[in-house]
Amino acid sequence: MEHLKKLIDEAKKDFNSCGSMTELDNAKSKYIGKTGPLTEAMKGLSSLPKGEKPKAGAFINEIKKSIEGLLSARKEMIQNEELLNQLNDESIDVTLPGVKRNQGSLHPITHTMNRIEMFFHSIGFTLADGPEIEDDYHNFTALNIPEYHPARAMHDTFYIDDEHVLRTHTSPVQVRYMKNNKPPLKIISPGRVYRVDSDATHSPMFHQVEGLWIDEKVSFANLKGVVQDFLQQFFEDETLSIRFRPSFFPFTEPSAEIDMSWNGGWLEIGGCGMVHPEVLRQVGIDTNEYQGFAFGLGVERLAMLKFQLNDLRPFFTNDLRFLQQFRA
Ligand code: DAH
Repeated sequence: MEHLKKLIDEAKKDFNSCGSMTELDNAKSKYIGKTGPLTEAMKGLSSLPKGEKPKAGAFINEIKKSIEGLLSARKEMIQNEELLNQLNDESIDVTLPGVKRNQGSLHPITHTMNRIEMFFHSIGFTLADGPEIEDDYHNFTALNIPEYHPARAMHDTFYIDDEHVLRTHTSPVQVRYMKNNKPPLKIISPGRVYRVDSDATHSPMFHQVEGLWIDEKVSFANLKGVVQDFLQQFFEDETLSIRFRPSFFPFTEPSAEIDMSWNGGWLEIGGCGMVHPEVLRQVGIDTNEYQGFAFGLGVERLAMLKFQLNDLRPFFTNDLRFLQQFRA
């Protein structure tokens, strides 16, 4: 039995040389595992004379307890060391630069469209929408645009197939809305439009805002008033004046280009007119009862003037150095 005492010293040395929990677990089984010397000794008790059994059993248990004590002490040390190492590994260097979280902002064109919507909303216009892939009928035919009109030519329009185009203007929304709703109608429709056109002031994709007001007595004077009020508010300038220059659009009669005063001259920012009776008839509106106006404004043009830019291309090339200057 006495030889078992040596186990305590052996276990102590063994446990102390273990550097990790796995090593310690392996070492443990050498002493107090199922096949270890102590278990063997316990088994051997049965062969002892009856009188010696309790003493011997108690002795073996003592040794087992001591070894278990050593084990848990070493275990605690190893766990503390491991924790310390982990903390060291994960320590934070407070002198490192912080993690920057970029805050997004609205694109200047979106911002401009929101301002436009806000104004028209305040004077009772609601929003309407239409598809960007438009059929020939809504984009051209229903708007009284004849077969030979240059807008229909391949060099001006992106054709998807024989019957579908990327809409060249927001005016088809007028048609769709008038077909599905009964007058009085008072809508604006901002959105993307597409033309085969590209230079400093033209992009193949750009934005327009369409306006339409149909009621019993909506007049050309109302049209001019609404457009002027809008521009004065948009540019925050009560002295801003506008000029209607006689023009031609197949879907309005009479038609005008909208010019606004700018740096001592005039700048064209859109087209407008009284909705052509033929267009109203196409959508089943009684022209003896109703009349109204429509207009189409170029959003990029308005944004360029507002932000004093002479090139619209940077709006669409995703250079953050440019876009971040418009954080609203
Ligand atoms: N759709 C025209 C264009 O893109 C602009 C326009 C002119 C719209 C007159 C209108 C309008 O609603 O009445 O060139």
